[in-house]
Amino acid sequence: MITGGAGFVGSHIAEQLLGQGHEVAVLDNLSTGRRENVPRGAQLYEVDLRDREGTLRAILDYRPDAVSHQAAQASVVVSVREPKLDAEINVIGGLNLLDACTAQGSRVERVVFASTGGAIYGEVPEGKRAGEDTVPAPKSPYAIHKLAFEQLLAVYTTHRGLATTALRYANVYGPRQDPHGEAGVVAIFFDSVLSGRSLRINARREAGDPGCIRDYVYVADVARANVLALSGGVAQRAMNVGTGSATTTRELCDAIQRVAGRRVEVQPGARAQVISNVRCSTPACVRRRSASSSASTRASRTPTPSFQLRAGSTCSTTVIPIESDDVAAGEGALQTWSWREKRSR
Ligand SMILES: NC(=O)c1ccc[n+]([C@@H]2O[C@H](COP(=O)([O-])OP(=O)(O)OC[C@H]3O[C@@H](n4cnc5c(N)ncnc54)[C@H](O)[C@@H]3O)[C@@H](O)[C@H]2O)c1
Repeated sequence: MITGGAGFVGSHIAEQLLGQGHEVAVLDNLSTGRRENVPRGAQLYEVDLRDREGTLRAILDYRPDAVSHQAAQASVVVSVREPKLDAEINVIGGLNLLDACTAQGSRVERVVFASTGGAIYGEVPEGKRAGEDTVPAPKSPYAIHKLAFEQLLAVYTTHRGLATTALRYANVYGPRQDPHGEAGVVAIFFDSVLSGRSLRINARREAGDPGCIRDYVYVADVARANVLALSGGVAQRAMNVGTGSATTTRELCDAIQRVAGRRVEVQPGARAQVISNVRCSTPACVRRRSASSSASTRASRTPTPSFQLRAGSTCSTTVIPIESDDVAAGEGALQTWSWREKRSR
C-alpha cells in the first residue's frame, strides 16, 4: 500500500511496483494528489490519515505486506504558516498509520517512509556534503516533524517489531510534478519555458550569482530506491537518496533550455529566503564533481538490486546506482520536458 500514491513520487512507486507484478493499493485524500495519477490496476482508498478509524479500516481491508508512506503536507512554507496542521498530518497522521500497521489483524511487516535530506540537514556549509551521520539541523516545522517521525519509526521497530526505513530524498523532479507549487523548480522552469515566460534565479548570496546549489534526483530513481527498501534491500534505518551531483540554479536554467530547445530571458531575482530555501537545501556536495566521480557515476548506471557508496567520490552519502546522474545530462530532464509538452497541447 502506498500512502500519497496519487501524488508525484507515490504514483511513480505505484507504477514500478505494478510493473514488477505486485498488487498495489493507494491511500490518499486527494488534497494535492490526483485521481488520474493513480495507475490502472491500483485500488484507491480515499482516506485522510488524520481519520484514525478510516486508516485502520483501509489497512485491515487491504491487508498489505508493506507500506510506502509518501503522504504528507509537503510544503515548507505551509508548515511555517501552519505548524499545527503540519504536525497533524505529518506526525499524528503518520502515527495513525503506524498504529494501524501494528494493529491486530494487520499483516504489515515493513514501512518505508519518505523523509527529506533537503530539509533535515539545514543549509550544508559550502564544500561539505551531508551524509546520514551528519547531525540534523532542521529549520522548519516540516523538517522538524519529518525528523520526529523518523525517530518514532525507530520506537515502533523496537517496541512493536515493525521493520522501518526512512529514505531522505534530495530535490526530486520528473513527470507529474506540480509546477504551480512553491517548490519543484524543475517543473516550474519547464512550465515557464513552454509558455515563453522568463526564468528567475534567486541569488544565494549576492545579486547575479548562479543561485542555490542543489542535488536534483530523478523521480524514477527515487521510486526504485523505494521499491528496493520495500523488499528489505536497504539495511540502514535512514538513507539519503540523491545523486551526489551539485547543480546551481543557473546550470539548471541552461540545462532546461537546452533540453527544451527553446530560449527565454533569464533574470536575476532576490536573495533566497532561508526558510523557503530549506526545502531545497541538499545533501549534495557543493564542490564541483571530480572527473573520477562523474566517470564512476556513468559506470554505475546499470540498475543493480543493491545500494553502494559511489567509488571515487569524497561523498559519505549513500547513493543508489542512478540511471540519470544529473539534470544537465540525464534522461530525466528529457522525460520531464516531453511530459510537460504533451500536457500543454
Ligand atoms: N518532491 C520532493 O522534492 C520531495 C523531497 C523530499 C521529501 N519529499 C517527501 O516525499 C513525499 C511525496 O512528495 P510529493 O512531492 O510526491 O508530494 P505530493 O504532494 O505530490 O504527494 C503527497 C500526496 O499525499 C496526499 N496527502 C496529503 N495529505 C494527506 C492526508 N492527510 N491523508 C492522505 N493523503 C494525504 C496528497 O493528496 C498527495 O497525493 C512527501 O512525504 C514529501 O514530504 C518530497
